[in-house]
Amino acid sequence: MPQKRIHLNAFSMNCVSHIQHGLWTRPDTRQLEFNRLEPWIELAQLLEKGGFDALFLADVIGTYDNYRGSAETSIAEAMQIPVNDPMMLIPAMAHATEHLGFAFTSSVLQALPFTFARQASTLDHLTQGRLAWNVVTSYLPNAGTNLGYDGLPPHDERYARAEEYLDVTYKLWEGSWEDDAVLSDTARGIYADPAKIHPINHSGKYYQVAGPHLCEPSPQRTPLLFQAGSSDRGREFAAKHAECVFIYASLRNLRDTTSIIEDIRARAVRQGRQGEDILFFQGVTPVVGGTEAEAKAKEAEYIEQGSVEGGIAHMSGTIGVDLGVIDLDVPLDSLEINAMQGIIKGLIDSAPDKSLTFRDLVRKRSSGRFLTGTPEQIADTFEAWHEAGVDGFNIVYAVTPGTFADFIDGVVPVLRRRGLVQSEYTPGTLREKIFGRKLLPESHAAAAYRRG
Ligand SMILES: Cc1cc2nc3c(=O)[nH]c(=O)nc-3n(C[C@H](O)[C@H](O)[C@H](O)COP(=O)(O)O)c2cc1C
Repeated sequence: MPQKRIHLNAFSMNCVSHIQHGLWTRPDTRQLEFNRLEPWIELAQLLEKGGFDALFLADVIGTYDNYRGSAETSIAEAMQIPVNDPMMLIPAMAHATEHLGFAFTSSVLQALPFTFARQASTLDHLTQGRLAWNVVTSYLPNAGTNLGYDGLPPHDERYARAEEYLDVTYKLWEGSWEDDAVLSDTARGIYADPAKIHPINHSGKYYQVAGPHLCEPSPQRTPLLFQAGSSDRGREFAAKHAECVFIYASLRNLRDTTSIIEDIRARAVRQGRQGEDILFFQGVTPVVGGTEAEAKAKEAEYIEQGSVEGGIAHMSGTIGVDLGVIDLDVPLDSLEINAMQGIIKGLIDSAPDKSLTFRDLVRKRSSGRFLTGTPEQIADTFEAWHEAGVDGFNIVYAVTPGTFADFIDGVVPVLRRRGLVQSEYTPGTLREKIFGRKLLPESHAAAAYRRG
């Protein structure tokens, strides 16, 4: 069964600097070309050569603007700004490939569900069913104020909105057009049967949507659903809706990842789904070298050139706390942590060695995402993680396409020899390639809206 192989996604964003900040200045990365189609098309073709399931595109709809009380650091360091729309890249990349899937991020705050459902159906048609949606609820206050909210709606309200948003899209994708609604009958001049196309008449707390859906059923109807929330509410949401979950726990403790997997699977079973209806992808940056020493030297360069301030601005925005109040260059044990907010205290408490500075700690955190070694060593770790229950990996770049190219040239052949990475794609849609089925299963919440 396709589930037993290791699944691979490439993680990127339509911007200059995504996760490992400061490295965009290197001559061996194409991050500065993000405004052009060529690097994206070439990346998609490379990933397809490497048997990847999908290119996964992150997105935000606001700036990280709380570090030292402003967006200055983020802007100066191109830290997720400028950031272009991820959806727009997909048709060109799909045209240049045959099998690769395209997972894009879109927040439930961003577009009305009716508009969004239409965009997604259009892309699912144009990609012939290779589309996945990463459902997010946003975390940047600036996203809220950009989108007409009075600040970012509170966390649990965002998830309540997400629930209703998905209901609306499921009704449009799964229930509005019956399977045999499209006749395309040229002899009689009848394109579709009006009796088989239905309004949805959704009337809820947040959305009023009459329908019908404006697109005829696309190959997958509902795109493959990704999710990446980690709170209790986020896990419950994943357990109900997600088909693939992205985890970005530290690589140093496999148990952090496997306990999330077990927890979400158990929640899914309580919701009437099967544990194996959800695949889990761990984020990792492989740093490959011909020898271990060569790989380590490359990692040391990335750490040395990485931007600590960019990393802290990113972290500040993600956790919603300005870490700019911390002196970067004094030992942690001489910081006045008692006066600090709990979240900062927690970060500092997590440091194994209190003689480190906060600068060291941030460097360690970002290097904690690196998996460094020879192709065999990296393949061994992937295999061990896979055996422990991780279904796949989201490869996070340090340099692009270099991180992906080194992995595909070095590690993929080893994993293929071990029968762990596909050499050929299964025909059909992205869901067929991953789960062996074209549509969501009957046990999924979306299926309740089907007719007949
Ligand atoms: C690995 C990972 C990747 C994420 N990618 C994005 C993203 O690209 N855009 C976004 O707005 N939120 C992203 N998020 C945020 C989550 O989807 C979610 O909205 C946020 O974590 C708040 O939910 P939570 O409290 O349940 O974690 C990501 C989260 C994780 C853990």
